[in-house]
Amino acid sequence: MSPGNFSFGARVPDGTNLPAAEAEKSECIEPVVGQVVNAIAASDDLRAKAHRLIPGGCHTYAKGDDQYPSNAPAFIVRGAGCRVWDTTGREFIEYGMGLRAVTLGHAYTPVVDAAVRQMRLGTNFNRPSPVEVECAEALLAVVPRADMVKFAKDGSTVVSAAVKLARAHTGRVKVAICADHPFFSYNDWFMVTTGIPGGIPADVAKDTLSFHYNDLAGVERLFERHPGEIACVVLEPARTEEPIDGFLHKLRDLAHRYGALLVLDETITGFRWSTGGGQDVYDIGPDLAVFGKALGNGISVSALTGRREFMELGGLHDTRERVFLLSTTHGAETHSLAAAIKVIEVYRTEDVIGTLYRQGERLAQGVRQMTAALGLGDHFTIAGRPCALLYGTRDADGAASQPFRTLFLQELVKRGVLAPSFVVSYSHTDADIDQTIEAVAGALQVYRRALDEGVERFLVGPSVKPVYRRFS
Ligand SMILES: Cc1ncc(COP(=O)(O)O)c(C=O)c1O
Repeated sequence: MSPGNFSFGARVPDGTNLPAAEAEKSECIEPVVGQVVNAIAASDDLRAKAHRLIPGGCHTYAKGDDQYPSNAPAFIVRGAGCRVWDTTGREFIEYGMGLRAVTLGHAYTPVVDAAVRQMRLGTNFNRPSPVEVECAEALLAVVPRADMVKFAKDGSTVVSAAVKLARAHTGRVKVAICADHPFFSYNDWFMVTTGIPGGIPADVAKDTLSFHYNDLAGVERLFERHPGEIACVVLEPARTEEPIDGFLHKLRDLAHRYGALLVLDETITGFRWSTGGGQDVYDIGPDLAVFGKALGNGISVSALTGRREFMELGGLHDTRERVFLLSTTHGAETHSLAAAIKVIEVYRTEDVIGTLYRQGERLAQGVRQMTAALGLGDHFTIAGRPCALLYGTRDADGAASQPFRTLFLQELVKRGVLAPSFVVSYSHTDADIDQTIEAVAGALQVYRRALDEGVERFLVGPSVKPVYRRFS
């Protein structure tokens, strides 16, 4: 498939679409084009219906219409490996798949098979299933700094559970979070910091404090200003900024010196930085840590892990006052845990992490060459580890720009790439990366012209907007 063109798939009776490669074999182009026009209209209808039935039109703000240019796929009907197909039959190479949950690849057969096998045995019983113990053992084998684990369905829930445990253990209320890490939980204690106060009691704000990554003195100032009040510090082990001068270790020591716990949010870094997350990479033992996203390769499973002395507060054998810790109907759905066990096995037996770094590096090199050749170094930047690359868009004055982000996304979509980030998966091949670099080259040429001639005249629809905003 040529990277410069869309490949339209043919509609099939069950409402799904044939992969583009199969569609290309079709001799009857005209009916296919007609079907595509109908499919676009149907997709617009579906979008309107979605907004009538679902606030925001979907179930995650980061997937919303306001996050993508108007030519982006409105809905995706299926994925295989790193490729996805929309309701009109267009095929895309995807990055940051499933908000980074899909690390091995879409519909990754060994994981799907493991989940389906377990599903046929039943998904939820009145008593626990052995798969809960098996999955706990498998996860703790790759997260050896933790003694115990409790599973749930999403990252937000387990980060909040870590905060609750820290509060219970310390008898304190305040939490110090890293201001440079954009998301920890949709719960009030975090959302109150985002500037969207709707529905959150105003007094929650006083209990969440912020510090900057690598600013140890800033954290110490918080502890001094709020003596005996801070239960824990919460941060990702790293994002685009690496820890300097033993920051994570010094932060843990500082927290302990002031009687607080260190909570590492490995929702993104787990099964990406390394199998065991940032704690492996930086050799740092947190008091509590959470995993999610990649753990189930897109199937919903998350985990609170930690040291026994804290985790046992939620157990049945402790003499201390109990914590009602993570007790949900679906928390231990058997097929999600079976999927997680298979994911862990794949990471243990195949070079998933090495591949993520290698393919990310290939992409980063190609993109950097393009930006240098076009003189865009100050306007289009990439940052982060190769396994988790992010890009930034800046206007002619060097200010961060949503319209330029929209333009870049729009031009990539035209070239068959759906890339809100450059986060690769285990399924991205050399050919996929090279095709992406070609698409990026085309998109950046338009970007260059837009810097010189004005971005508005190149946009085919409205600009994307930040997720965190107070009004629509
Ligand atoms: C670092 C981090 N922590 C927690 C979460 C919340 O996870 P979930 O969306 O599964 O609730 C996210 C989600 O993007 C995240 O990036």
